[in-house]
Amino acid sequence: MTDMKRIVLSSDHAAIELRRAVAEHVASKGWEVVDIGPETPESTHYPIHGKAAAERVASGDCALGIILCGTGQGIMMAANKVNGVRCGVCSDPFSARMIRQHNNANILSLGARVVGEGLALDIVDAFLSAEFEGGRHATRVDMIEG
Ligand code: RB5
Repeated sequence: MTDMKRIVLSSDHAAIELRRAVAEHVASKGWEVVDIGPETPESTHYPIHGKAAAERVASGDCALGIILCGTGQGIMMAANKVNGVRCGVCSDPFSARMIRQHNNANILSLGARVVGEGLALDIVDAFLSAEFEGGRHATRVDMIEG
């Protein structure tokens, strides 16, 4: 994992408030937050925002990403279409830790209609504090890439 502490955030309209809470929290932990919106609550399309965040990570502009929609599922599916991105939806801190340690996930997806703010921030902390273990997990992660 890089030492770069720069993280991209995006969401659709269903998760703007939780995204803002996550942005503030992550910034308070010393991360440079690149929040690519959206800023207004009009209905929008999660694939646009998932792809935009995923491209920031895949290009190396940001080390990690956190993306959010109502369930976390649709935006995760969009992000995972970008080569080099490994994104998982998490509703518990254990899974968030494991997708870093075993799957080398570089994007966390959250469902704003699934988890409340307190739990979401615990999930974020678990994701950000975990490290990829490599070894046999690296062999498996390499097999994911096309
Ligand atoms: C928007 O209503 C909703 O479908 C979206 O936020 C997300 O849950 C899709 O996976």
